[in-house]
This record gives sequence, structure tokens and C-alpha cells, in this order.
Amino acid sequence: MEVTNRYTVIKHHINGAPEESDFELKPETLTLSIEPGKKEMIVKNLYISMDPFQINRMKDRSSSYEPIKYSGSLIPGEAIYGPGVGKVVVSDNPEFKKDDIVSGYLSWGEYTRTKPEYQLTKVDTMGLPLSYHSGVLGVSGFTAYAGFFDVCKPKKGEKVFVSSASGSVGNLVGQYAKLFGCYVVGCAGSKAKVDLLKEKLGFDEAFNYKEETDLKSALKRYFPDGIDMYFDNVGGKMLEAAIENMNTFGRVAVCGVISEYTNQDKRAGPSMVDVVYRRLTIRGFLIPDHMHIYNDFFSTTVNYLKNGKIQVLEDISHGVESIPSAFVSLFRGSNVGKKMVQIADD
Ligand SMILES: NC(=O)c1ccc[n+]([C@@H]2O[C@H](COP(=O)([O-])OP(=O)(O)OC[C@H]3O[C@@H](n4cnc5c(N)ncnc54)[C@H](OP(=O)(O)O)[C@@H]3O)[C@@H](O)[C@H]2O)c1
Repeated sequence: MEVTNRYTVIKHHINGAPEESDFELKPETLTLSIEPGKKEMIVKNLYISMDPFQINRMKDRSSSYEPIKYSGSLIPGEAIYGPGVGKVVVSDNPEFKKDDIVSGYLSWGEYTRTKPEYQLTKVDTMGLPLSYHSGVLGVSGFTAYAGFFDVCKPKKGEKVFVSSASGSVGNLVGQYAKLFGCYVVGCAGSKAKVDLLKEKLGFDEAFNYKEETDLKSALKRYFPDGIDMYFDNVGGKMLEAAIENMNTFGRVAVCGVISEYTNQDKRAGPSMVDVVYRRLTIRGFLIPDHMHIYNDFFSTTVNYLKNGKIQVLEDISHGVESIPSAFVSLFRGSNVGKKMVQIADD
């Protein structure tokens, strides 16, 4: 049997903010059968996660290419792969059978022809929505958990600042921190997002950074006694302002620097004198280095979800043709919570 598989590609490298017109949808005819012996599979894509890091792969040059396999350069016209959830249609891999639900690296298209090195894993939904495996139980959730617990090493009662706090990772950092017993302030880019953080997610305080003319004084207002931990999703000026408000022995978990991804001129230049005299730890991290706490993350988060202790924020677009606008929305701040595209019904 043959199907038409439409998949998303970049037309050319993208060095600034992405636009929908930078992408195109390509059709191909896909035969739903595979040559035996290579352990390949064909997976029908169900949910594709939209992640800011992909923009670094779309540039003609990026220092993200080298250190880690999945952040390598994308070639214009070729399929883009990223985290997602799908259903096995045909399998020559003895570990998987037809109709198994899998998560891992899938193409930004309707189907993925997978190889064993894509490291797909079987998903046990445990009665929870499948979309959770692209968000709260997927990369975003694990990033929030690993960055907060393994990098920040929190103590109860400490004061936490989170940027991009209504985003996929940020909202979960705030919720884990509140459940752990910290004081939490988040910043986000609109009044609606700020209200959501305070009224639905239980943040102690939140503010709209776009309305602040002096970020350093804004943080001083929310943290008169200083910040113990800063979970940085944005870099740039916010990182500089946070460093100037950190307490002695404060920790900064550098999760991402989205404000710098599309504008290299916005690079942070934090006061290194503050870093020295306040004995700060600033640590970048990537989740593959934290797999030793994956089981802990998964069981704790499932438990929180089943007991209604975590609110799930999802922002779902529908259909493969909506991938470009869904991706671009991350850089325009129009997403609330985990941005993903539902390609087909569960
Ligand atoms: N280290 C890791 O292993 C790892 C894993 C996953 C993600 N990350 C990183 O974590 C960060 C958050 O990712 P996510 O998936 O949760 O995305 P997200 O926060 O759900 O979405 C992006 C958000 O970033 C904010 N933003 C966009 N442009 C901005 C700018 N110029 N300045 C300030 N804020 C801006 C917008 O919110 P506002 O309305 O608040 O502006 C937007 O909604 C990213 O930097 C990402 O690369 C790292």
C-alpha cells in the first residue's frame, strides 16, 4: 500500500527570526512496507513537539552543531526531525509491533521511516492523554525537573526566579518549585500570561517584562532579599539583571537563551565581578546528562498528574500544514505552555 507523506523542510538557512515563508511542505509517495533485516519501522506521527532549539539547527552556522548529535545542522530541503509521539504502522524491529505507541525523534511530517538509532521508546499512556508525552512527561517536563532539582539543587524556602515562565519548561519549573516549598516569581510577555501564572499556577508573583524599563529594579522589587536560584530560559538582558540580584552562593541554571537565538547582538554580558564576589554558580545543562534522575522525574510527575497537583498547559495546533506557524509562534511569544502539533487523531 502507498500513502502520500507530506513533511516540512526549510527552504534556506534562517539566521534571524523565523517566518512561515521560510518553510515548505513537500509531498512524497511512501510505500508502507520495509525491507527485512534493517530493523526499520514506519511510524504514523501523532504529536510533534515544537522546540526553540531547532532554530539553532536552521542557521548556516551555529556553535550548537558540534557538542551533541541531535543539535546538528539542518540541510534545506531535507526532512526535519524532533521529539514526537506516533503509532507504529509497519515494523521490522523485534522490539516493536504494529499499533505500538512510541516516542522519540520523528519527522516534522505525517509519517517517519525510522532506523534503530532514532532510539524510540514504547509509551505506556497509563490512562493519561497521549499529548502529555510530548510535553509534561516528555522533553519539557524532564528539562524542568532536571534543571530545577539536579542543577539548581534547591532547599526549601529558597527564592526562585523563572523567565519565560508561562512557556512549556518555565511553567513546570515554577510548579515543581512551589510543590517543593520555594518562593517563586516568574516573568512572561503579556498580562494574560502573568494572570495565568498567579491565578492558575500558584506562582507567588509574576510580571510582564515587556512593561519594565529597568529589569534590574524590577527584580529588586520582587526579590528585596535577593534571588537564590534563577532558571534562565531567555539569556540576554534578563540574565544580566538576575545576576545583579543574586544572593551569595546563588545558582543559575542556564536552560536556554531564546532572546539570543534570533539576535546575536543581544548576547548577555553579566557582571563577572558579581559572579566572583557572590560566589555564583552558572551552569548550562542539557537533559541527556541527567538520565540518572529520569525514573524519579517520571514517577513523581505521573503521581502529581494523577493527584491533580500539576496543571497541564498545552497549546496544540492541528495538521501538518500548521507546523511552520506553530514553530514561528515560539519566537513571537504567542504560545502558552507546550506548543505542539497534532498531526493525526490518537
Ligand atoms: N537545556 C535543555 O535541555 C533544554 C530542553 C528544552 C528546552 N530548552 C530551552 O528552554 C527554553 C524554553 O523552551 P520551551 O520549549 O519551554 O519554549 P516556550 O517557553 O514554551 O516558548 C518560547 C517562549 O519564549 C519567550 N520568548 C520568545 N522570544 C523571546 C525573547 N526574544 N525574549 C524573551 N522571551 C522570549 C516567549 O514567551 P514570553 O511571552 O514570555 O516572551 C515564548 O512564548 C528555550 O530557551 C529552550 O531552548 C532547553
